[in-house]
Amino acid sequence: MDFIELKDNAEKELEKIAKSSELKSFFDKYLGKKGEIRQLFSLVKELTEEEKKKLGQEVNEFARNLEEKIAELEKEIRRKEVETEEGSQSLDVSLSNEKIETGHLNPLTLTRREMERIFELMGFSVVDGPEVEDEWHNFDSLNIPEGHPARDALSLGKTYYLKNGNVLRTQTSSAQTRYMQAMTPPIRIVIPGKVYRYETTDASHEINFYQIEGLLIDKDVSVANLKAVLRIFLEEFFEREVEIRLRPSYFPFTEPSFEVDMLCTVCDGKGCSACKRSGWVEILGAGMVHPNVIKNGKLNPKKWKGFAFGMAIDRLAMMKYKINDVRLFHSGNLKFLKQF
Ligand code: PHE
Repeated sequence: MDFIELKDNAEKELEKIAKSSELKSFFDKYLGKKGEIRQLFSLVKELTEEEKKKLGQEVNEFARNLEEKIAELEKEIRRKEVETEEGSQSLDVSLSNEKIETGHLNPLTLTRREMERIFELMGFSVVDGPEVEDEWHNFDSLNIPEGHPARDALSLGKTYYLKNGNVLRTQTSSAQTRYMQAMTPPIRIVIPGKVYRYETTDASHEINFYQIEGLLIDKDVSVANLKAVLRIFLEEFFEREVEIRLRPSYFPFTEPSFEVDMLCTVCDGKGCSACKRSGWVEILGAGMVHPNVIKNGKLNPKKWKGFAFGMAIDRLAMMKYKINDVRLFHSGNLKFLKQF
């Protein structure tokens, strides 16, 4: 083989190499002790001194070049091999530690997990309910019979109906009677999950958002217990002192019913744009479970009482992380997500 042919062959072969074993044979073949390049020198005896010198320089340069290429290729092959099963058994500590991009949890996930953690500490179990519900669980069992004005006012106009007559739940309250029927009191559960409402989206409305429902059923339960559980939860969640107030409201499935407001954490109640100058922000709905609902849960309302509450996880996440548009959560916007 003359030098030109050798160069040509080496370059072509190098291009095809994909495994480190092949690379090693290639090295031996060309740069090894008995390799092609060494052998070249034995052919140069017939050349003049001048020619020898010139060829020597060229060959040396070629060999150096080849070594560099081999080293580069080796790194690349090793990296690939480590990624595949074949190579993963050996750990190459000499590989460069490139920065690996890791994913981020959506703030909704972080918020949900934090809420679950706090309620678990308070003795609540975290349970799940179906997103596709029958009307009985989403409405009727919650004391919202067909034709009842509350059904319309509350969520009928915003309900997604499926062809088979079921609905996408409009509230996690739909799981309340399921668990009353399935469990023996005392019951202490929270039910986080997705809910759906057919409405125009804006900075504070999404057709799909998250709620967490709380349900406690026991013998002696009072509004004071409800208030205490909520305040302790909120203080733990916002990591600060929190003041709340219960405002009379109406839900068919609780009596009495309340909207729960929290003293605005931005202005401490002085009034600002976040609380619409009122000093208070509405954060959740709650109340004492209506006897009809307890009955629908196959429990005796003379014996068992309880409270329930439901809050939007999105809303609390927005307050905690100071996010001003609910649509950001599902936007897939990496600039937004990378902050968490
Ligand atoms: N389900 C109500 C809502 O979606 C909240 C609520 C839950 C109110 C439990 C009272 C008791 O607005």
